[in-house]
Amino acid sequence: MFFALTEHGVVGRALSAGKLPGRANSNIDFRVWNPRDFTEDKHKTVDDRPYGGGPGMLMMAKPLATTIAAIREFRGGFDNNNYRAKVVYLSPQGRKVNQTLLGAALSENIILLCGRYEGVDQRLLDAEVDEEWSIGDYVLSGGEIAAMAVVDALVRLVPGSLGNSESVNQDSFSEQIDGLLDCPHYTRPEEYSGMAVPEVLLSGDHGAIEQWRREQSLIATEIKRPDLLNKKD
Ligand code: ADE
Repeated sequence: MFFALTEHGVVGRALSAGKLPGRANSNIDFRVWNPRDFTEDKHKTVDDRPYGGGPGMLMMAKPLATTIAAIREFRGGFDNNNYRAKVVYLSPQGRKVNQTLLGAALSENIILLCGRYEGVDQRLLDAEVDEEWSIGDYVLSGGEIAAMAVVDALVRLVPGSLGNSESVNQDSFSEQIDGLLDCPHYTRPEEYSGMAVPEVLLSGDHGAIEQWRREQSLIATEIKRPDLLNKKD
């Protein structure tokens, strides 16, 4: 599944930057780990039936714990005990991910734990997980798509990862625009389907353009996400 993230677009290029000749490693080192590779039985079992009955299967604690230990060992090497990584379990019960949360996470090593089936044995969560994150109030059939959303959003915050670092500063929610929504954008032609590009954008007056964009950000936020205007987050 993660090829969708690693093999495409600016995020894919940023994630593989370390492997590209002539490109400096951009401090992003992303790796996918499969718990099946850390099982000991010939069927590579990672799931089992829930105690107490009920539908579906659960992910077993042991293969996940072994995988997490292997990640820590791989990253930490001999200095294993000094390697710090936060384990984040992706689940609809978690804290809602937003730009502020991601910005704070940027300076940390993170192990994103993706559940499958009906979930994960609670004992693994109790023993290993530091935080639980959700990407919204809907249920996905596994944590992978949520993890990809998180990694995509994180990567674009890493300076230099996108080529044009300015574009991140103008993203919706960014601090540079005070957490507001982005303003509307226009490209050629000057007239499309009877609709003209706002004149100020053709004026060359950078001060006026900046002011217009600010106003438009405020208007967009007021109309589409009024909840953002009074938020102190
Ligand atoms: N796994 C399943 N649903 C999810 C969600 N909404 N957010 C994060 N992880 C999930």
